[in-house]
Amino acid sequence: MVHETWSNRAMFILAAVGSAVGLGNIWRFPYLAGENGGGAFVLVYLACVLGIGLPVLIAELIIGRRGRCSAVASARSVARESGASGGWAIVGWLGILAAVLILSYYSVIGGWLVAYVPITATGTFTGADAAAVSARFGAFLADPWVMTGAHAVFMAITVGLVAQGVRKGIEAAVRVLMPALFLLLVLLVVFAMVEGAFGEALAFLFVPDFSAITFGVVIEAIGQAFFSLSIGMGAMITYGAYLDRDTSIPASALTVAGADTLVAILAGLAIFPIVFAAGLDPSGGPGLLFQSLPFAFGQMPFGALVGTLFFLFSLFAALTSSIALLEIVVSWAEEHRGWPRAQATLIVGAISFVLGLATVLSFNRLSGFAPLGFLPGLEGKTIFDLLDLLTNNIMLPVGGILIALLAGWVMKQSVIAEEYGAGVLRGPWYLMLRYVAPVAIGLVLVFAFIA
Ligand code: PHE
Repeated sequence: MVHETWSNRAMFILAAVGSAVGLGNIWRFPYLAGENGGGAFVLVYLACVLGIGLPVLIAELIIGRRGRCSAVASARSVARESGASGGWAIVGWLGILAAVLILSYYSVIGGWLVAYVPITATGTFTGADAAAVSARFGAFLADPWVMTGAHAVFMAITVGLVAQGVRKGIEAAVRVLMPALFLLLVLLVVFAMVEGAFGEALAFLFVPDFSAITFGVVIEAIGQAFFSLSIGMGAMITYGAYLDRDTSIPASALTVAGADTLVAILAGLAIFPIVFAAGLDPSGGPGLLFQSLPFAFGQMPFGALVGTLFFLFSLFAALTSSIALLEIVVSWAEEHRGWPRAQATLIVGAISFVLGLATVLSFNRLSGFAPLGFLPGLEGKTIFDLLDLLTNNIMLPVGGILIALLAGWVMKQSVIAEEYGAGVLRGPWYLMLRYVAPVAIGLVLVFAFIA
């Protein structure tokens, strides 16, 4: 079947940036940096984006535009076109599985944003001290019903947007919201610069302690690069399939990676000055965003308004990512199962919603339940921790290796050259894709888990 295409080039870029910029930048990047030694993590992360993420992102867009279908069918068709086995469709299958799993917890955390819009708007944090802000978050986590309700709202909006199709749903959501979020983040950084412990935050984020770099930190950084750039699971293959012939793929990839990295760094610069000024623990984990920024909102003039807008815009950023996650699966279901779009979105959304309940419970009723706690290294890991580890630190990197091999070794060089275009740096990119990316990911995976 022939998919719709983006109405113009700017829209593709916006949608791809929209898919990349989301919870990964605002919620996950800061807390991972906090947990993994700050500067050491940030440095390795930037290296991973440049050396692994960008090459794989370009490869995904090439596979998508060449294949013009869902991730499964595109991977199969580009492999066949170059005389290789259709078994490369496995790239797409893995991606679909990863997308359903990631969407399940993405929607739960997205629900935290949903809940924090009214919580902030009603002035809960005005004048509150750090302890009160943390206590409010603790109370929120403790109630599985409220969290489930918020998770349901987030999933319902995602389903609604995707059901409307590529142009109406995705483009409209991205056009206004991305710039708005960006401006607000800049405002928060300025506030943090003036009122927070900015010097301490800068030192924490940008002065690396090299002794803190372990295989564990590196695999976290690789996983975060994949998660944040929306790669390793076919999302960019799916989006690339809607891409027109005259758009430069390397230039688009550079824009996406640049914007994504910028937003992550801005989020770090907004959050850490507050973390240090309020005496919070930088390695506080997934709650970091929700414990640090509300404290700042409580101290600044018009804080309730600024805070409400922040959570609202972050929610929109999360939605432009969750629609990409759902789109991966839906474009496949439309194609292979022949399901109507509305029905496909509803079914996949419902499955992900139910799976997400395991994540909801991981923060309250089942917070002490470590299903694989008997295995070394997995002690104390909740269902959410395990899902996060399985998807981001295993499935996406493995998907990345397969994509690198497919574009770097299986597809004919003539096809690759045609899709890459006349753009500069094709030689270095091709070398990174063929050798650096698969070998580096493979080695780190082996050392982080086996050794
Ligand atoms: N990149 C998104 C984020 O950072 C998450 C995502 C991953 C979206 C994969 C789509 C596909 O929040």
